[in-house]
Amino acid sequence: MNDFTIREVNENDKKWIIQLMEDEWASTRIITRGIVHNTENLPGLIAIQNKKRIGLLIYNVKDYDCEIISLNSLIKGVGIGSALIQKMIEISIKGDCKRIWVITTNDNTEALRFYQMRGFKIKAFYIDAIKKSRQLKPELPLLGIDGIEIRDEIELEKELK
Ligand SMILES: CC(C)(COP(=O)(O)OP(=O)(O)OC[C@H]1O[C@@H](n2cnc3c(N)ncnc32)[C@H](O)[C@@H]1OP(=O)(O)O)[C@@H](O)C(=O)NCCC(=O)NCCS
Repeated sequence: MNDFTIREVNENDKKWIIQLMEDEWASTRIITRGIVHNTENLPGLIAIQNKKRIGLLIYNVKDYDCEIISLNSLIKGVGIGSALIQKMIEISIKGDCKRIWVITTNDNTEALRFYQMRGFKIKAFYIDAIKKSRQLKPELPLLGIDGIEIRDEIELEKELK
């Protein structure tokens, strides 16, 4: 299935983004390295199929570093996540970014696999970092994927030439 397109987020997407973030990440606020990111106010990429939104990547560029703040595919295993990452790489190269980086958590083995299969390398492991995130985002659940306790942050990066 390759009949979807990727475009940049616009104002009309806001309501859908807020709902998706609440459904998938417990709120619109994502915490990485102790920083609160209000996803509804950040740039992003949306996958569209038959006018329906089926994937979202939210990002933030700072000092020529591009951080993926969140990534969600609503139809898994058909290339939506890969297409969003590919578009992110193109935008980052155009913007002279040196690298793309992303934080995931210890329970998210699917994401660890997904990013490494796409050339991202594990850069750092922040043990117990979620303790601090919970102070900033009390709605963060204790248990994550497969009932594993969400405890650590793992940083992955892809260097750009
Ligand atoms: C991680 C995530 C974004 C991946 O999205 P996805 O849309 O399933 O990703 P893709 O479809 O591009 O790739 C998944 C697999 O499907 C395969 N695939 C892609 N297109 C395909 C196609 N047309 N036919 C068959 N298989 C295909 C890919 O090869 C890939 O396998 P690989 O990793 O062995 O290469 C998705 O699982 C998700 O939303 N997870 C929950 C949120 C999350 O954890 N986000 C990441 C942390 S920020």
